[in-house]
Amino acid sequence: MEIFHIDEDIRKSDTLPSSFYREREWFERSISEIWEKCWIFIGNNTDQAPVGTLTPMVLLPDVLNEPVVLSTDSDGEVYCLSNVCTHRGKLVVSSSCSGQRILRCGYHGRCFRLNGTFKSMPEFDQTENFPTERDHLKQLPLATFFPLYFTSINPLASFATFIQPMLDRVSFLPLHTLTFNPDASKDFDVRAHWALYVDNYLEGFHIPFVHPALNQAIEFEKYEYHLFEWGNLQIGVAADDEPYFNTPKGHVDEGKKIYAYYFWIFPNLMFNFYPWGLSLNVVEPKGHKMTVVKFRSYYFEGTSFDREKNQLDVTELEDEEVVESVQMGMQGRYYNRGRYSVNMEINVHHFHRIISNLLNKQKD
Ligand code: FES
Ligand SMILES: [Fe+2]
Repeated sequence: MEIFHIDEDIRKSDTLPSSFYREREWFERSISEIWEKCWIFIGNNTDQAPVGTLTPMVLLPDVLNEPVVLSTDSDGEVYCLSNVCTHRGKLVVSSSCSGQRILRCGYHGRCFRLNGTFKSMPEFDQTENFPTERDHLKQLPLATFFPLYFTSINPLASFATFIQPMLDRVSFLPLHTLTFNPDASKDFDVRAHWALYVDNYLEGFHIPFVHPALNQAIEFEKYEYHLFEWGNLQIGVAADDEPYFNTPKGHVDEGKKIYAYYFWIFPNLMFNFYPWGLSLNVVEPKGHKMTVVKFRSYYFEGTSFDREKNQLDVTELEDEEVVESVQMGMQGRYYNRGRYSVNMEINVHHFHRIISNLLNKQKD
């Protein structure tokens, strides 16, 4: 594998090499260096309310393939547990259920409490030094952002470190009223490497060329880019007659007519805040040439929005077309690396810097 360097100075740097997007080896390396270390969206608290609810799922199928289960105990506390029985490895919970008092493995009857600790096991009285710590179901960290749940296998930094800069900027919004709307949520298949989708998201440079309707809604000259440690932000300023946020007095964006805040959290979470609420986009790889982008909508209390009118789908399809075209371009023999626009691509450069720092680490 070719080692690549992304210069700290955007003016001097090349973009990521096409081999990064094309070669399976880089994708496989990213499983341990990126996907095991990031925060993964795993659903909403509305799916998990009552005591004794068990919700099995697999973290990033086709990439991490980690079976976990969300479990709510009698105090209403929610846990994210390994869903692999500590006896001989059967999945403990095979389908969602509620009203459970324990987790019972259906193979040989091992039981766990709702917080994952070992409770009982038939026919094990002669087994020595049993049970021990390793007979509990492993607890993964569970982080929340209002109604949203996240977990991680081995996080690079705390969830708070990842999201605090975002929270600082949007805390004036009625975030505690955000409510998931399944009808306004859907998944899109994109035939491209996940990072090409992220690259495209991280710049507004293409808006005048690719998104004619969106281009009418925002003031392209006033578009802003901001970086923080594990993410970055783009701000779209509303054109006349478009809806915008009322930022409070003393807010860093006071006086600006903000059409949308587009926050990206490394590596695959996009929090798009609009006056009506939050559109969360989760970019999930399905292999090195296939990606699913999950759009999840959350409304602020008292607001609703019309998907058609809001143009989110139109914009998405325009982005997909361009990203799939770039995927084709990555196969070309005459392209290797590009350069960055200093004004327009600082967020893309920031993303590439994080990737190169993580993937090249053990090679230095
Ligand atoms: S594998 Fe679960 S009890 Fe045997
Ligand atoms: Fe776009």
